[in-house]
Amino acid sequence: MVVERQSGKGLWGGDLLVFDELISTNQWVLDNIARCKRGDVIRAIRQTGGRGRFRRSWISEPNASLAFSLVIDPGENAETAFFYGVATALAIRSYSVAAGAKNVSVKWPNDVMADGRKFCGILLEQSADNRIVLGVGINVNQTTEALRSAGLETIATSLRISASREFDIQNVLGTVLREMEVRLAHVTPAECPRL
Ligand code: BTN
Repeated sequence: MVVERQSGKGLWGGDLLVFDELISTNQWVLDNIARCKRGDVIRAIRQTGGRGRFRRSWISEPNASLAFSLVIDPGENAETAFFYGVATALAIRSYSVAAGAKNVSVKWPNDVMADGRKFCGILLEQSADNRIVLGVGINVNQTTEALRSAGLETIATSLRISASREFDIQNVLGTVLREMEVRLAHVTPAECPRL
């Protein structure tokens, strides 16, 4: 069910659509690509079958995780998909440093780490009409206990653990989107050499 719809609050004037629950925001966009336009951002408060790279699963719980997908139209430049992922990781690195996370780094190609543990993953997929679906998962408010009970405490962290404070997830989304807008502006054919 859609719980929020804000026109112009996505990227580049796209819309923001928030669902209470989806299997996967990337899957929803792939299934509904004909209804989506460039810059639309689809967020799910809970994902029941979120997926990561290499067919791994990605856990997204309400009030703890930020999970969203962005619709990108690369036009003739489908090879720029990879650069959108890297630019997004850099945007999230900048945001996280400013938000107080410690020892933040990007692990190739586009995982974002704090204190050597991952808190953000990015999944790029191609739609049937050759657009790019860029999915972002950020561990925002998970506690050490929650990560421990999921068996993830040695490899994963959250913004809350690293910055020692709680975050408002909707604010995180708004600020991350603005940071992405700045970074993604550099992903142009001129700045990305053809592969
Ligand atoms: C990774 O393996 O590091 C990538 C994780 C990507 C997770 C995000 S959450 C939003 C979007 N929807 C999904 O099903 N996956 C991505």
